[in-house]
Amino acid sequence: MSEVIIEGGKQLRGVIDVNGAKNASLPIMAATLLTEGKTVLDRVPRLTDVETLAKILRSLGVSVERTSSHTMELKPGADIICDCPHDYAISMRAGICVLGPLLAKTGRANVPLPGGCVLGDRPVDLHLKGLRAMGADIRQKGGFIMATADRLKGARIYLGGPHGSTVLGTANIMMAATLADGVTTIEHAASEPEICDLADYLQKCGASISGAGTHTIRVEGVKRLEGCLHHVIADRIEAGTYACALAISGGEITLRNVRPGHMAALRDVMESMGVDFELDVNTIKVCREGPLKATDCTALPYPGLPTDMQPQILSVLTASAGTSVVTDSVYPERFTHVGELVRLGADIVRQGPQAVIRGAAELTGAYVRANDLRGGAALIVAGLGADGTTVVSGIEHVDRGYEGLDEKLFRLGANIARKGASSLQAGQLQLPFEGHQPKTDN
Ligand code: EPU
Repeated sequence: MSEVIIEGGKQLRGVIDVNGAKNASLPIMAATLLTEGKTVLDRVPRLTDVETLAKILRSLGVSVERTSSHTMELKPGADIICDCPHDYAISMRAGICVLGPLLAKTGRANVPLPGGCVLGDRPVDLHLKGLRAMGADIRQKGGFIMATADRLKGARIYLGGPHGSTVLGTANIMMAATLADGVTTIEHAASEPEICDLADYLQKCGASISGAGTHTIRVEGVKRLEGCLHHVIADRIEAGTYACALAISGGEITLRNVRPGHMAALRDVMESMGVDFELDVNTIKVCREGPLKATDCTALPYPGLPTDMQPQILSVLTASAGTSVVTDSVYPERFTHVGELVRLGADIVRQGPQAVIRGAAELTGAYVRANDLRGGAALIVAGLGADGTTVVSGIEHVDRGYEGLDEKLFRLGANIARKGASSLQAGQLQLPFEGHQPKTDN
């Protein structure tokens, strides 16, 4: 199990190239199941979630090969297998993305139920409701979703749930609809940029889709899809995480290869915290010289503040003067980082879907554990602002969604190093300092 060791208190300066988005790459990789030809996918980040989905796709009969560090070639074979392997698929939520494509392409899909996770229950009822409306017969047995359909038929499907729309549910129905008979209209569709990127990819393959990026998506089924060359959009969450690292540390960094328009809500929240942004076409300069200020914010579906930024923002607010209230209306249970931040000295009270943060706490280094991907990133952000040495364990969660987060922060001037093995790290960093190892009490 690998750990990241941070000696806090260093300002950050320099330039970072932001990778392609994990949450765009995963559904697009799954969508290749629908096609007949070869897809060349560029800007695919090197992440454990991406590698896990590649393994799932290979087991279903898709050839998946990395032809360079961030380029992947995917080509479905003549015989697609409809049984998704249990062990890989339950280790990541995005395994559910193969359900719609498998069903549309072959008329059958057996996919493990993703189950609950530390973010909360995470049901897939809306995915199943959509596919049933298109004529699929769906049963659940032995932890698997077993779906069959002679041929899916276009339908009008409302995808709103108690916490707004569903991103992967919208992706699943949009993908399935590309090869269905007739027209599918998705109402209350998710409008996240990753949905638009998936729609762009599918359209390049020959799909007929309009309305992606709005809450009503119309898909007219076609007989067949080819492959194409596609460049994955920038990862707005990776970019936002570096912005939070800068905010707590102070200094000035430039984020290259980003889409500033995808980060408006995050920018708005961070500006009210005293962080300055300078936007160009595909770069953002982030700077913080004055003190951090408290602010209230709520994670919402796009174009609101992303729930995937809530933990990192919460970390920065622990160091901001005044009291802040952070609400997560997408995942009301997404607060496993709170207890760990308290170990660093933060003053936070959790009340249902909200955390009340009494800021400007003197954070001091401690041994903390990442319990999930963004919560882990939040602990690294907090460690940058803490006095003394912080050791964050459970970094395998962080590697699911960040390519070399510690290496990039090191290049920006952070005193950060990794201990222990990680198959995705090119090489071990030299410890830049004599990190002590506080004892864990569990
Ligand atoms: N929901 C339902 N029923 C469903 C599906 C979802 O009630 O059938 C609820 C969920 O429980 C949640 C809300 O709807 O309260 C939104 O969930 P959504 O389905 O949109 O989440 P997702 O599509 O499974 C993706 C990202 C998440 C990100 C969410 C929200 C991927 C692979 N995952 O998940 O990313 O938090 O959208 O933006 O795209 C991450 O990258 O760390 C991550 C968790």
